[in-house]
Amino acid sequence: MLGIIGAMSEEVARLKAEMEDVLVCSAAGMDFYQGILRGREAVVVRSGIGKVNAALCSQILVDQYHVTRIINTGIAGSLRNEINIGDIVLSKDTLQHDMDATGFGYAVGQIPQMDKSVFEGDSSMIEAAKECCAQVVPEIGVHVGRVVSGDQFVSDKEKKAWLTAAFDGYCTEMEGAAIAQAAYLNGIPFLIIRAISDKADDSAIMSYEEFEAKAIEHSVKLVMALVEKLD
Ligand code: ADE
Repeated sequence: MLGIIGAMSEEVARLKAEMEDVLVCSAAGMDFYQGILRGREAVVVRSGIGKVNAALCSQILVDQYHVTRIINTGIAGSLRNEINIGDIVLSKDTLQHDMDATGFGYAVGQIPQMDKSVFEGDSSMIEAAKECCAQVVPEIGVHVGRVVSGDQFVSDKEKKAWLTAAFDGYCTEMEGAAIAQAAYLNGIPFLIIRAISDKADDSAIMSYEEFEAKAIEHSVKLVMALVEKLD
């Protein structure tokens, strides 16, 4: 069983609409759509925004649906000049940029008393996603790099510069690392697929409003192709 999480309803609406034999169950205020997507058994769910919602949602997918891998689809702010609005970022790895126990001597982003703080996306899912991009969205840029997550919408250039300098992030969003951490703790692979809606700087809010729909279209198109391709 494959779990697919989007934070916002716009990010999962198309996927839900494409499903067949759907059964909807609710837990923790989230509606889990279980059915067949592109010939594969899947559960599609809107987690809500932020790391807590995302982690809870992931654990429910594991406990109640026994998912064996998770895809997180959605949009993100670009942290690099060469990553443009509409481009796709696939998670080479991911961490929480707002995890800060530096007062105790931990590096920023490091989770105290845990063996791991940077979670690697599944390499075979990355490869499959790259091939799908070339097939279904050949006109757009695809980047494999670090996704930095935090409970913040990043919309100023100082913060953006810090995220790039401190973590070498490719894009920033608000759920990916939480899903990755939950996947890691449960021993299952994950991939974060994000399409860029804005540049995470002072233009972010306006740009987000303008490009959100287009970016979502790209990530959904890719997810649908990937669901079909995964073995
Ligand atoms: N999702 C899309 N753009 C974002 C940004 N700039 N910061 C956090 N999450 C985002």
